[in-house]
Amino acid sequence: MKYHSALKSIKYFESLEETNYFKIKDSVAFHHDVINSDSLPKEYDNCDVLYSEPSWSGGIKKFDTRANTKTTYDSYANAINNIIEKKNIPIFLIVGVKDSKKLIKPDECHETKIHNAPARLNVYNWNYKGSLKNNYSIINHLSNYFNCVGDFSCGYGNTGEIFLRNNKSFVMSDYNKKCIGYIKKNFHEILQQK
Ligand SMILES: C[S@@+](CC[C@H](N)C(=O)[O-])C[C@H]1O[C@@H](n2cnc3c(N)ncnc32)[C@H](O)[C@@H]1O
Repeated sequence: MKYHSALKSIKYFESLEETNYFKIKDSVAFHHDVINSDSLPKEYDNCDVLYSEPSWSGGIKKFDTRANTKTTYDSYANAINNIIEKKNIPIFLIVGVKDSKKLIKPDECHETKIHNAPARLNVYNWNYKGSLKNNYSIINHLSNYFNCVGDFSCGYGNTGEIFLRNNKSFVMSDYNKKCIGYIKKNFHEILQQK
């Protein structure tokens, strides 16, 4: 699976078509900057769980350049905290050890790995008893319990891809329109492979 990373060693797909909105079956992916509103768009009302791998503070500059915008990690963390406060459904965030201090204290915090790097799984409004091996095993576990996942910093859409492969649905957004372009280009194929 490809994922959108700020790390130099991981390929960024520069030539993708910028895309605002993409719908596939009962799932949707669209352009949205979480900093620009104090709640998630209405599309997210369909979700029974939120899962996201938000940018770490060290990656924001590069992600901003790719999305052709300028933000700060503090305003991003504030926006995520607003989401946590407003959404009364289970929320799962994979966060960096240092960055987790800027986010609302979770109900549970577990050690895990994301692409081999140590990370934390912050859990809100849920008692998590699933695998903690890595981010993919966590998403797989969640797709057994929940029907529609929301990911407000979706990158190339691994969260939704796993839910789709397990016959579930997703609502995803990112402030980088090329990420939505990636999902548009690749997700029809996923349905065909099923
Ligand atoms: C670590 S990546 C997510 C990787 C993703 N799980 C995947 O499958 O590729 C973090 C994402 O957060 C997005 N992001 C950063 N700031 C954002 C903002 N203010 N609003 C929405 N998305 C943002 C970046 O564009 C990036 O795609």
